[in-house]
Amino acid sequence: MDKIVIDGGRRLSGRVAIAGAKNAALPILIATLVAPGEHRLNNVPQLVDVSSMLSLLGRVGCPSLVHGGAVRLDTSRVSFCEAPYDLVRKMRASVLALGPLLARCGEAHVSLPGGCAIGVRPIDQHLKGLERLGCRFELSGGYVHGHVDQLVGARIVLDFPTVTGTENILTAAVLAKGESVIENAAREPEIVDLVNFLRSLGAQIEGEGTSSIRVQGVQALAPKTPYSILPDRIEAGTYLVAGAITGGDVTVERVEPRDLEPAIEILRATGCVVDVGDTWVRVRRHGPVQPVDVTTRPHPGFPTDMQAQFMALLSMAKGRSVVTETIFENRFMHVPELNRLGADVSTDGNRAVVNGVDSMHGATVMATDLRASASLVLAGLAAEGRTEVLRLYHLDRGYERLVEKLQALGADVARVTDDLERLRSAPLAVTQNVG
Ligand code: EPU
Repeated sequence: MDKIVIDGGRRLSGRVAIAGAKNAALPILIATLVAPGEHRLNNVPQLVDVSSMLSLLGRVGCPSLVHGGAVRLDTSRVSFCEAPYDLVRKMRASVLALGPLLARCGEAHVSLPGGCAIGVRPIDQHLKGLERLGCRFELSGGYVHGHVDQLVGARIVLDFPTVTGTENILTAAVLAKGESVIENAAREPEIVDLVNFLRSLGAQIEGEGTSSIRVQGVQALAPKTPYSILPDRIEAGTYLVAGAITGGDVTVERVEPRDLEPAIEILRATGCVVDVGDTWVRVRRHGPVQPVDVTTRPHPGFPTDMQAQFMALLSMAKGRSVVTETIFENRFMHVPELNRLGADVSTDGNRAVVNGVDSMHGATVMATDLRASASLVLAGLAAEGRTEVLRLYHLDRGYERLVEKLQALGADVARVTDDLERLRSAPLAVTQNVG
């Protein structure tokens, strides 16, 4: 099992280029199904989740070619309308296949994603919206089986602005007969990116980025021009916190600063100086971290995907902060691990009270989900001594070349495999073997 080993206490400084957004790339990759032909996507992040989505596309009959961040994908034929358990198990976002498969094939068989480390995460809103468009569903054998003869536009009012739910409904509505309106739609930048992509295929959509999205269905869509994925605001926010937590000076480049506003606002409230350019954001911290109360909300509120990282920063504040999580019911699994590093955080339901400490100290910690893993790495950068973060597969799902990027900013960090570790701890045995 690989681990990340950090010798903390180094001040990070420099520039880091941000990759394409995972949560935009995943819906866009699978949405290529609604437009038969050859797609060219750029700025696709090189992540395990992206490979899993390409495997899923391969499984339904759509081969792809990846060259760095450029992906070519042939969706001319679809031979299989299923997202099987072995893929959904690895990546919950496979549920995004539901809308595109129904639109393309009139049927979809998607393994139920079930719970995940950060909460129950049902898909009732996805199904309700697609049912309004004429789809019928039955659940059996751990799968949701969907059928539709003709998608027909409808008005859909979501109970909660679910991100992937909005995406599933959108990708079906673009090929429905007539007009659809999604009310209480998610407003995240990744939704806007998906809409821009669908529009590049010929879809007629208005209102993205607001809570009311209007779609005029068209008969067919086709790939025309290459499409470039939006920068990852969560990756960018994570590096900004890395700058802040180490008292450093870090500039994230190739970003959309507007999408980072909720994070920038909190960084400023903690006492950091933040400068904003057209495609970059720079953070500097000289004085102590000030405590701030943070509540996660759907966009344009403070993102749940940055909660854990900011908790690491607030752990070092001069005072008490309260972090309230309103999106997921179980997204505090990083708390006991942060406490192992010397933080003083206690939770009560969806509230975490963070009593700032003067310093944290290295320890071995276990990553539990993607953003929790990032928060442990951040805390390790600031902690005195050595921190080892285990269970890296979460980080590989969502952060491209994390260790290399942190090293370039001056962090003393390395990824170590068990074998290497064995070699290090038993040099004599190795010499004998080699001899
Ligand atoms: N919910 C329902 N019913 C539904 C759908 C959602 O009750 O039908 C609930 C969920 O259980 C949850 C809340 O609504 O409590 C929000 O869930 P949402 O559906 O918005 O989340 P998601 O679409 O499953 C996406 C991102 C997450 C991100 C959330 C919130 C992707 C692939 N995933 O998930 O990203 O945290 O939106 O912004 O876009 C991550 O990248 O680490 C990550 C978890």
